[in-house]
Amino acid sequence: MDLSNKVAIVTGGAKGIGLASAECMLRQGAEIMIVDWSRDAASDAVKSLTALSKGVDSVAADISNVADVEKAILATVDRFGGIDVLVNNAGIQTFGDPVTTTEEVWDKTMNVNLKGHWLMSKYAIPEMLKRGKGSIVNVSSVQGLASQKNVVAYSTSKHAMIGLTRSMAVDMASRNVRVNCVCPGTVNTPMIQSIIELDTNPGKLKSILDKMHPLGRIAQPSEIGEVIAFLASDRASFMTGSIVVVDGGLLVPIAGSPE
Ligand SMILES: NC(=O)c1ccc[n+]([C@@H]2O[C@H](COP(=O)([O-])OP(=O)(O)OC[C@H]3O[C@@H](n4cnc5c(N)ncnc54)[C@H](O)[C@@H]3O)[C@@H](O)[C@H]2O)c1
Repeated sequence: MDLSNKVAIVTGGAKGIGLASAECMLRQGAEIMIVDWSRDAASDAVKSLTALSKGVDSVAADISNVADVEKAILATVDRFGGIDVLVNNAGIQTFGDPVTTTEEVWDKTMNVNLKGHWLMSKYAIPEMLKRGKGSIVNVSSVQGLASQKNVVAYSTSKHAMIGLTRSMAVDMASRNVRVNCVCPGTVNTPMIQSIIELDTNPGKLKSILDKMHPLGRIAQPSEIGEVIAFLASDRASFMTGSIVVVDGGLLVPIAGSPE
């Protein structure tokens, strides 16, 4: 896939899936703006990626804050001259059932995992329209298609990401802006590493996570980044509103079926 002459924003691009997507798109010739609320991590990411290409920069911004979002869009247009691709990847994992989840956790989860992606799209799409087309890739989760215990706010936000994808795809199709979504299974990123480390038996949890996936392991971030880069590119020109599961087969087996 060729992404030369494309400018791509990657939210949450300082780490994990976002960083891997940025690297993959940079290798395919895109210019990349990393939008991340961690200024230091974003600077470190830019330093590591400049070995591949000078066409990478970062802006510190919280995607759930409208003033930050406007700042991030302006900074991208100032630096690279426009916007072709938006990867809505930044997200936070939160825990709790319907009773134990606090209002604060609920609001924060929805603000980052849902409102932030709408806000980034709201301000990026007008820039895409100036270029005549664009591509948005949203990062949901297998937890946007199914759920498990103790993730009521997170799973709800990820289900809503799929609704946001379909709604934006329908609204923007006639104006040549494609909107697609990836649903990863478990991916070896700082988010997952911190969850594993907090467990009373990290080794056992890691082994359970590996075995849950029919391929026998969790994903590397680049395995999600490759799919994101494809959806961002013109190679996916007839795809919009698609929900692409990238889960090593996690959602496939019939529950409870014998080994
Ligand atoms: N890791 C997994 O197993 C997995 C599985 C399915 C879906 N996802 C989703 O993939 C996305 C990336 O996950 P990851 O595992 O790479 O996470 P991560 O925690 O390793 O990295 C997330 C990055 O997003 C940034 N970020 C978080 N909130 C932000 C905000 N409000 N504004 C700007 N930047 C913000 C963080 O600073 C960090 O750099 C998330 O949306 C997550 O829900 C992850």
